[in-house]
Amino acid sequence: MQQADSIGRLIAQGRQQLRAGDSAALDAEVLLAFVLGVDRAWCYAHSDDPVRANLACDYRSLLGKRAAGFPISYLTGCKEFWSMELKVDRHTLIPRPETECLVETALELIPERAALDVLDLGTGSGAIAVAVAKERPRCRVTAVDIMAETLAVARDNAARHGLSYIRFLQSDWFEALPGDVFDIILCNPPYVASGYRGLAEDEIRHEPRIALDGGYQGLAAIRQLIPASLRHIKPGGYLVLEHGGDQTRSVRELLVVNHFSGCGTRRDYAGRDRVSYARR
Ligand SMILES: C[S@@+](CC[C@H](N)C(=O)[O-])C[C@H]1O[C@@H](n2cnc3c(N)ncnc32)[C@H](O)[C@@H]1O
Repeated sequence: MQQADSIGRLIAQGRQQLRAGDSAALDAEVLLAFVLGVDRAWCYAHSDDPVRANLACDYRSLLGKRAAGFPISYLTGCKEFWSMELKVDRHTLIPRPETECLVETALELIPERAALDVLDLGTGSGAIAVAVAKERPRCRVTAVDIMAETLAVARDNAARHGLSYIRFLQSDWFEALPGDVFDIILCNPPYVASGYRGLAEDEIRHEPRIALDGGYQGLAAIRQLIPASLRHIKPGGYLVLEHGGDQTRSVRELLVVNHFSGCGTRRDYAGRDRVSYARR
């Protein structure tokens, strides 16, 4: 009779199979831990334990998908953001660590005990709305997205973190919010240039195109949102936008042309410009 594979052996096989990727060892461990329903530390402590054949088979199937470039977060159905585990699926952008820079900027602009009206435009998995609502529980947070399937995931994430009071709306940007005004609008818009080859070739090809493709120069949504937001920000309120490192000048010019003041830009952990904000 064939001997069952051990945890350690399966991880070594996975590492070998994924060796072309930057994170082969980590990915193999994450996938096996996911299939076994344990955490990675448990795998280290039980590396000689045998793994049932059906689970080893599930693991190998996931390894195959990962080796073909499928994002690991879609395979496990979750992604950590702002120290919270968020559900993700193929309808949602996988939240990026850079977007924590937008959350940090928002929290600096919202005093700790303030009860402000906050809008997260294009909420995706709900990452920004959930993080801000968690840190500023007095705020009234609204989150919109154009995709119903995406909003369902965002709602689920809010409920999982006990934040079901966030108001979720399906909306083409401000369309479903005709008379609403906010103290602060937060937005991580699609800002990848349509012509960027990676949209078709890189791992991001598995993510929703609508979440990434920002049209010409990646600025189409930003060009639309900056003037449109004027009608929805209270005087003295803020617009906070995530953007690409090479888009700072265009974004800041658009803010100034639209009579915003006090523009600032923050860098992400990698030292690239990532978030610009300004006051109405
Ligand atoms: C870059 S993703 C950001 C997702 C999430 N906020 C995050 O930071 O991880 C952009 C989001 O905007 C949404 N979106 C794109 N076009 C939209 C539109 N016209 N109206 C509302 N949402 C839109 C997409 O569905 C996607 O969820």
